[in-house]
Amino acid sequence: MSKIGVAVCGATGSVGQRFIELLQGHPWFEVKCIMASERSEGKKYSEVVQWIVSPRIPEAVKDMEIKPVSTESLKSEDIRIVFSALPADVAGPVEEQFAKAGYAVSSNAAAHRKDPDVPILIPEVNAEHIKLIPVQRKNRNWSGLIVTEANCTTTGLIMPLKPIYENFGIEKVIVTTMQALSGAGIPGVPSMAIIDNVIPYIANEEEKVEWETLKLLGKFNGDKITPANIKVSASCNRVFVLDGHLESVLVETSRKASVEEIKKILAEFKGEPQKLNLPTAPRNPIIVLNEPNRPQPRFDRWAGEPERAKGMAVTVGRIRQDTVFEKGIKMTVLSHNTIRGAAGESILNAELLVAHKLIQ
Ligand SMILES: NC(=O)c1ccc[n+]([C@@H]2O[C@H](COP(=O)([O-])OP(=O)(O)OC[C@H]3O[C@@H](n4cnc5c(N)ncnc54)[C@H](OP(=O)(O)O)[C@@H]3O)[C@@H](O)[C@H]2O)c1
Repeated sequence: MSKIGVAVCGATGSVGQRFIELLQGHPWFEVKCIMASERSEGKKYSEVVQWIVSPRIPEAVKDMEIKPVSTESLKSEDIRIVFSALPADVAGPVEEQFAKAGYAVSSNAAAHRKDPDVPILIPEVNAEHIKLIPVQRKNRNWSGLIVTEANCTTTGLIMPLKPIYENFGIEKVIVTTMQALSGAGIPGVPSMAIIDNVIPYIANEEEKVEWETLKLLGKFNGDKITPANIKVSASCNRVFVLDGHLESVLVETSRKASVEEIKKILAEFKGEPQKLNLPTAPRNPIIVLNEPNRPQPRFDRWAGEPERAKGMAVTVGRIRQDTVFEKGIKMTVLSHNTIRGAAGESILNAELLVAHKLIQ
């Protein structure tokens, strides 16, 4: 099959760079347009990007001209998908213009996550929420569409929660995060603020983790998602780590579960991307680690096989019974925030839409 042309919006940023890197050699998609702010437009990618994700800027995009974020920029190329890595305030109206013009928008921004007819999609967790797309198209009279990925912190958390929710039910979740610097974008947190330090505040992050979890675990009921009836409390911290969000999680289940049962359902968990063998799907979306001091960002953020799915698996360790809640299980969860938590996730979402013929 010939490759589907794609565009990357916000291509110079922390997530945009991951898109550029992960889309190189993609079997289905080819980058045909890159877009960023007025500061960058009209210039060569290599002239303006502060490249941080690998040793070299990929040859195929090095000399590409950066275009303004607009439907006009897409017209001269055969493009079907727009990957959006824009700040939320910019993304809101622009993504709607793309969808109205017939493009499929796979977004990283929070702008549309709360819209009742826009799915927050993590294909292993809630692939059935793509049934919202026909509802969205009808409501808005669009030939295109918008799907979003979740906040990078929610994404790591939701992976182990899904099989626990399905098998034992969940009453409460209490999570404390240690989040990497790349999550703050480029240039991000000033070095003088973060070296030798932990910052116990990330604007709007706790609220996102708390409500997105309910939408993701919710049920599609014909024209909308009914959120899951569980309670989530998050405390988010920025730490001096480049990539990889670590989360300390306490789950109170509805039915009592043993540590061994939890380990088994997490290790065996698979979803639609694995069934469909999507190019960016990790063979095992959750990897259970038994060493007492793992996962660690430095060692485990690249989890995931095969090669194209590196950084797409979530590692879970320190699974143990809680000492306060009778039905409480504690665990430590790690996910790569700009791959599983952002660009890789959005690429997987687009692959799912192609597999379901929602993008043609
Ligand atoms: N970083 C993560 O781990 C992560 C995870 C999940 C979701 N997200 C979300 O993904 C989005 C991008 O995050 P990021 O961390 O990559 O941010 P970033 O590093 O600050 O990059 C922002 C990108 O948007 C462009 N941009 C900024 N203002 C613009 C404007 N007015 N018009 C057009 N383009 C504009 C920038 O272009 P210039 O270089 O030309 O200024 C840059 O390419 C955000 O919505 C964020 O919340 C991030």
